[in-house]
Amino acid sequence: ETVEWAAESYDMGGHDTYMHKEIAEQADAVDRVLRGRIDDRFATVHLGGLNLDAREARGVRRVKILGCGSAYHAGMIGAQLIEELARIPADAEPASEFRYRNPVVDPDTLYIAVSQSGETYDTLAAVQELKRKGARVLGVVNVVGSAIARETDGGVYVHAGPEVCVVSTKCFTNTAVAFALLALHLGRIRDLSVADGKRIIAGLRALPGQIAEIVADEPRIEKLAAEYAQAASMMFVGRVRGYPVAREASLKLKEVSYIHAEAYPASELKHGPLALIEPAVPTVAVLPDDDLLDKNRATLEEIKARNGTILSLAHGEQEKADHTLVVPRNEPELDPILMGIPLQLFAYHTALALGRDIDKPRNLAKSVTVE
Ligand code: AGP
Repeated sequence: ETVEWAAESYDMGGHDTYMHKEIAEQADAVDRVLRGRIDDRFATVHLGGLNLDAREARGVRRVKILGCGSAYHAGMIGAQLIEELARIPADAEPASEFRYRNPVVDPDTLYIAVSQSGETYDTLAAVQELKRKGARVLGVVNVVGSAIARETDGGVYVHAGPEVCVVSTKCFTNTAVAFALLALHLGRIRDLSVADGKRIIAGLRALPGQIAEIVADEPRIEKLAAEYAQAASMMFVGRVRGYPVAREASLKLKEVSYIHAEAYPASELKHGPLALIEPAVPTVAVLPDDDLLDKNRATLEEIKARNGTILSLAHGEQEKADHTLVVPRNEPELDPILMGIPLQLFAYHTALALGRDIDKPRNLAKSVTVE
């Protein structure tokens, strides 16, 4: 498979930074990762390069997802989607940790390497170590023909298009969507019903329009970011589907604004980090409308009791939060895909308010091709 990107793809197209351009074009990018893959008749998707037949897919006992930084966080969302839709135990791990700990490589585990560039050394080295031990490794990769795409046995291209800003945005979102496709595909080969397959497909199709709605809310996010830019540090929390979103949003903010940020499962706050909460340390709470919402609301109360300011991401206004960014409702499994996007804009505008070098944050490179 080859994809040629025209020179216009690298044009700023009227935006001041690539980060802004790449956030703004996510509705189109998501449309691209879906295009030509949905099979309504069987309520599934076709993934041409997967190289895993139905019999092999049924034999998978575990899925282990490996990547670095944002790719790792997208992999965390991927692991949850695979567990939810395909009911295969799955988890994600930083590729570097995996390769240094002499991992037990199991023949019934499907390994998946995730990378925008396809050149990240730690991820590539993990793939090579796995291949050397005889494992089956798939890639969820953006750059067509990159090293990881070549060394894996097959996989799913993310089709985000060229991502120039060092800080990943559209590729993160498209990678999460690519995992939703893979999870749906594996699910429909195993026990996911036609009705649930149709439900997820309808949700996927709604994503581009909903992303456009979120991006249109930019002026409000810009105003809020100017207020929060004065923070000494920020806490990001979420439970289950909200947690990888909190992790990624915290990374985004650190990379581009240089504000210190921590991300924790909301349930872990009371085990230590609550000691940090005070007016100068606001909390960003990711609150999907799932059966954990009441528990999340109780966490907000704990934060308010310590005079913490709260910005929540939710499907409706949250009484306990100082501000709420309302995210359109989709299928609950797809919430992490949408909930990350307002927080990309939040990080962007925080950095802008602080006068940071948005496309080239200090000390960072787009792809880390050395150890
Ligand atoms: C993302 O904003 C970061 N710049 C970084 O964490 C990145 O995701 C990581 O280095 C992995 O890169 P890759 O996707 O090209 O492998």
